[in-house]
Amino acid sequence: MLIQGRLLTDPASPPSPGWVRTEGGRIAEVGEGAPPRSERPDVGGPDAIISPAFVDAHLHIPQFDSVGCDGMPLLEWLHRVVFPAETWWGVGGHANITTGAIRRLVRQGTFAFAGYLTSHAEASRAAIGMLERSGLRCAVGRVAMDREAPEELTREDRWRASQRPTPSPVLEPHGFGRSGGSVASGGGAGGRVEASANPRFAIACSEELLAEIGWLARERPSLVVQTHLAESRDECARVRELFPDDAHYTGVYDRFGLLRARTILAHCCHLAPEEWALIAERGAVIAHCPGANVFLRAGLFDLNAARDHGVRIALGSDVAAGPDVAMPRVARAMIEVAKSRAMCVRDDAVVPTPAEAWEAITRGNADALGWADAGRIEPGASADLLALRVPETWRDENLIGRLLYNWDDSLIAARVLAGRIVDPDTI
Ligand code: GUN
Ligand code: ZN
Repeated sequence: MLIQGRLLTDPASPPSPGWVRTEGGRIAEVGEGAPPRSERPDVGGPDAIISPAFVDAHLHIPQFDSVGCDGMPLLEWLHRVVFPAETWWGVGGHANITTGAIRRLVRQGTFAFAGYLTSHAEASRAAIGMLERSGLRCAVGRVAMDREAPEELTREDRWRASQRPTPSPVLEPHGFGRSGGSVASGGGAGGRVEASANPRFAIACSEELLAEIGWLARERPSLVVQTHLAESRDECARVRELFPDDAHYTGVYDRFGLLRARTILAHCCHLAPEEWALIAERGAVIAHCPGANVFLRAGLFDLNAARDHGVRIALGSDVAAGPDVAMPRVARAMIEVAKSRAMCVRDDAVVPTPAEAWEAITRGNADALGWADAGRIEPGASADLLALRVPETWRDENLIGRLLYNWDDSLIAARVLAGRIVDPDTI
């Protein structure tokens, strides 16, 4: 397939005319100027803007129908909104919700993500099959949780634990341990779906459950581990009650070997300097979720601390706490939260530029998730690309800012997923 347009290879520089040839789902060639031998493009044209598709570092597939339930702090919102939605997902809601989530992601140009399912192995297995067939790239896992939540959501991990000394794998439904399949190749899951272990957060996980996942994480350094850390103050206070002997919340995860390069820690709004230093030392990634943090009034993420401690940052929608599926809106929320900090907290607060924010939702997130072949326009990378149609007047030095602040999915003229044109209504 031949794609023509102004290539956004580096959002900090103006996109320059060029073309991309794809083969077998990957970018085979990237050229400057007009296509060779004046070939007609399959996608785009001289005036299209070609961007890598977006990558979302944190979302919850079962919560796609739960956006906008406002007015509650985190722990109350989990009990009144999220846990009922996840319970429904487990008893039949999963098929419709997963189809809807896939379509909304594709419509908004997100072709790769790291995410959570629910604690139901059977429904999660079905959702993973649907994700595999969609062609989306993801690190996704069943949620591990065995306490401080309704019986319907904690039952499976409690039952597993009762089967000792040979409990079924905590990584179900990826089949880890059954087929002997490697987790790096999906542990039984197909091509673009990678298994992850998702202990929900320390409140919902007993020491035994955290220890079991920590053991898995040590056995498999390439396994993605996803959890939530220090999102709200009430959450941090409950963790102090449940783990009185640990110096801090981050230390709980570290004690169980859960802080490592392929660990994604969502939120991290309330960390002490020692916790920042520990995360930096272990090389774990923080998924900053600005829209969600504002929605739940959980906290204002400190980009200065992240930069000063050299902690790797990714950007997540965190649907459904985050109201926006569209990553350009999440990128804009990051800038707006940073500007609020600059106005209200400290004059020298780091405020990302639009180009830095666009970089974050493409190559930056891909790198943070360990996908060196995603989120970029380069030979060898996955052919996950968007052809954008923008008004002629936008083609100036403010192009990226204009895209972020005027974002609407109607700006996407064509979507190329793994080298194929896809339609969000029929995928
Ligand atoms: N902490 C534990 N579970 C969740 C969740 O589903 N969403 C958010 N925003 N925070 C959490
Ligand atoms: Zn989350």
